[in-house]
Amino acid sequence: MAGKLLNLTLKVWRQAGSGQQGKFEEYKLEGVSTESSFLEMLDMLNEQLVEQDKEPVSFDHDCREGICGMCSLFINGRAHGPDRGITTCQLHMRMFNDGDTIVIEPWRSAGFPVIKDLIVDRTAFDRIQHAGGFVSVNTSGNTIDANAIPVEKEKADKAFAAAACIGCGACVATCKNGSAMLFVSAKVSQYALLPQGRVEATRRVLNMVRKMDEEGFGNCTNTGACEVECPKGISLENIARMNREFLFASLSNDIKAE
Ligand code: SF4
Ligand code: FES
Repeated sequence: MAGKLLNLTLKVWRQAGSGQQGKFEEYKLEGVSTESSFLEMLDMLNEQLVEQDKEPVSFDHDCREGICGMCSLFINGRAHGPDRGITTCQLHMRMFNDGDTIVIEPWRSAGFPVIKDLIVDRTAFDRIQHAGGFVSVNTSGNTIDANAIPVEKEKADKAFAAAACIGCGACVATCKNGSAMLFVSAKVSQYALLPQGRVEATRRVLNMVRKMDEEGFGNCTNTGACEVECPKGISLENIARMNREFLFASLSNDIKAE
């Protein structure tokens, strides 16, 4: 790998398991290429730790292409690190300088308990999604033409933008209240804006909001930090839409949360 080489000090959160006491451990890492990614730098650290007969650092990742939402690190006090609009796996070491100290922590939120080291349990997001983040359509045997129902261009664009949420949880980790409203509102908006999603819209918003509260996420106080740190640029406009959907659904006598 070309590029400049960096010598770094890493302060990494180590925690043996859920509910156990954790602490920062300091490691020196030399010869990190500015052209490597942040996760490749952590791979280097783990190779060094294995060579020293020490336990490698556990961290989450999958696609390493900004798609899956698995990589979830708080880096120098910011979700996904110092760059804007990218995930941790898209963060490059050129964002750092020789001699830097980098503090690496897991997402910290009541809704995301630590499993080990830098890995947290984000299955609360799956449970919220299961509560209503889908469209029930029986397509067996008679799939209709996707373009048969006209959708206004502006609404289609907004639904598409909301669907860009990858469920990474940076919004929760960044919010001082540990609120999941940006994530949930993206999922609610994705369907609420499309005719296919309107059929179950009332029940969906009631069920997803109820589940979000049950899972222990905090309330939104409009600080906007979630929007700033979201790697996919999900807009606060979605939270306003979810609030409207929730208000109308709450006033409806026909359908209640299940
Ligand atoms: S809204 Fe943004 S920050 Fe939150 S889960 Fe979705 S992509 Fe991640
Ligand atoms: S590893 Fe998939 S988004 Fe980062």
